[in-house]
Formats: sequence, C-alpha cells, structure tokens
Amino acid sequence: MLVLGVESSCDETGIALYHSENGLLAHVLHSQVAVHAEYGGVVPELASRDHIRFLLPLTEQALQQAGVSRGDIDAVAYTAGPGLIGALMSGAAVARSLAWALDIPAVEVHHMEGHLLAPMLEPESPAFPFIALLVSGGHTLLAKVEGVGRYELLGQSLDDAAGEAFDKTAKMLGLGYPGGPELARIAEQGDPRRFTFPRPMTDRPGLDFSFSGLKTFALNTSQQCRDDADWRQSVADIARAFEEAVVDTLAIKCKRALQQHHASRLVVAGGVGANRRLRQRLKQMTDELGGEVYYPRIEFCTDNGAMIAYAGYLRLQAGQTQPLDIDARARWPLDALSAIEI
Ligand code: KG4
Ligand code: ZN
Repeated sequence: MLVLGVESSCDETGIALYHSENGLLAHVLHSQVAVHAEYGGVVPELASRDHIRFLLPLTEQALQQAGVSRGDIDAVAYTAGPGLIGALMSGAAVARSLAWALDIPAVEVHHMEGHLLAPMLEPESPAFPFIALLVSGGHTLLAKVEGVGRYELLGQSLDDAAGEAFDKTAKMLGLGYPGGPELARIAEQGDPRRFTFPRPMTDRPGLDFSFSGLKTFALNTSQQCRDDADWRQSVADIARAFEEAVVDTLAIKCKRALQQHHASRLVVAGGVGANRRLRQRLKQMTDELGGEVYYPRIEFCTDNGAMIAYAGYLRLQAGQTQPLDIDARARWPLDALSAIEI
C-alpha cells in the first residue's frame, strides 16, 4: 500500500510517501520561516495561503523523488488537527480532493499521534508499552502508550507548552524566530553557573507541568542585566539557565512517570525533542534507570509529512477511513482516538 501523507497544521508544509513493504519512499518539506520571521511569530492567514501555494508542487516533488506517479497512490492521510484551523483546512481540502479525484480512500490523522509514532519510522523502533513525552510548540504532555490509539494522559502543561516557552523567552531576549532552536544555539555560549532558574512543579507530586513562570523569571533576570557591559554574554547566560531549567524539569517528570508506571521505555517526540541538551539528559536518566529512550531522527522531531503518512498507514491498515466531509479540528484531545491493533 502506498500512502501519501499531508501535513499542514502550522508553519511547515510536509508531504511524504510511505510504502507498506518498502518504508518511506520520499519526504519533502517547505518551511515558512521566511514568511513569518518579520512578524516574530506565525501569522495564521499567511500560513494558510503559503500552504495552498506549496501543497501541490511539493506533492509532485515527492512523487518524482519516489519515482512513482499519482496513479500509484493507494490512499491519502492528512493532518485533521489539532492546529491552526485555516492551515489545517488548506491541507485537508487538497488531500481530500486528491483522494476523490483518484478514487482512493482518505484518512484523517491526529497531529500529536503522528509525532508520537514518528520514532517507529526508525530502524530501532520502540515496543509497546512505553511512556511518551510529547513536547511541541502547542503541547507538552506525558502519556502511557499501550498501543496505537491507546493513550492514557498522565500529565500536561497547565499553561505554556515547553516549545511555546522557548519561543516566547527567545522573543523577549531579542532572538530571532523560530525561537527554540535559536535560544538553544545561543545557550551553548552561556555560563551555566551564573543564574539558577526554578524547576517548576517538581517539588509537588504529579506529572503536570507549568512553564510560563520561567519566561517571567527570564524577563526579570534580563532586566537586572540591562546595564551589563557585555549584553550578548548575559543573553547567552540567561538562555543557558532557561534551557537547563526546562530540560531538568522535563527529565525529573519523565523519571517520575517511568518509575510510577514501572516502565523502562521512554519515547520523546515533538519539536523540542530536537533539543540536544534534552536528548543528552534523557539518555543519561534512562541509562541510570536501566531503561531506554527513543527519538525520531532530528528532522522528524519537528513537523513533517512522514509521520502523518505513517500514522495514516497504520489506521488505513486497520480499516479506518472517513467519509468525504472535511472535519478539521483546532482542538482535539489525544485520548479521544480509537484504539487499533497493528
Ligand atoms: O512539533 P513542532 O515542529 O510543531 C508543533 O507541533 O508545535 O514544534 C515546534 C516547537 C517550537 O516551539 C520550536 O521552538 C521548538 O519546537 N523547537 C526547539 C528546538 N527545535 C524546535 N526547542 C528547543 N530546542 C530546539 N533545538
Ligand atoms: Zn508538531
């Protein structure tokens, strides 16, 4: 079965072709960084228009890369939510129309399920059950995963998502968009001993997170440094302290989740999963516990079409497709998904 995957939930247009026997045949991505950079964040209307511009050319590019033609596609999988509604509608409309024109089934995919299953595209793929840490721009959550669609929410952020906190703190420090990778880059030059930021909610039981206080802490610290002779160094030091605090907090909660649920496997997915320091820390923590941590390759941590093609393939294989209506959802709880056997 050859599945075309279409991702358009936010500021990246991703198209991929996944084959049931031969694996991933092609994946192409168009980033909208240049479109949104001058505004310092994603402008939803511009995002929708840009998706419309790139969806079909990228599909042609993916077909060429895979050496197949439109007629070879057996099904289309597309992100139906959660995300920016206009952006989702652009991808859904193209995906549904293609499926209709080619007279093949289409299946909607939950964006976070896509992220969560992305590590299964790697040669060393995690077996069920596992604990999943999903850390993206819109979500931070811990879930116990017993199978595809069998997700028990263990904890989540009560305010900003980790990626959102990275982005807002970066903006406040005058760093470029997208903030997360830029802040992480600057943090490399920072002195980890100069400032110590709090580890929010780690002294209480439970697996919820709160990251908005760290942003305020960073703001107050930056105001104290306003007259510093070497402002760039101060920014690097603040970035480093902020990154350490987020990474440490995530590691403490992941360790707690693994221990409370007697689990040994941790899966990390979503854009913040690309953070080098987070990857190192979680590897160290799971090594100490005698467990394992699994990540997608860096390019599949952030949004991409491959994870959507793959998650869609699993659901198609289980016999799921949807009627012709387009039902894109800005909000969609992960634990509302149906379970399937794979
Ligand atoms: O999963 P994703 O591509 O999109 C959403 O579904 O939200 O995640 C994007 C988020 C952004 O907030 C971005 O700043 C963050 O992931 N991010 C990072 C890094 N790379 C991306 N945060 C910290 N360090 C990174 N290296
Ligand atoms: Zn995402």
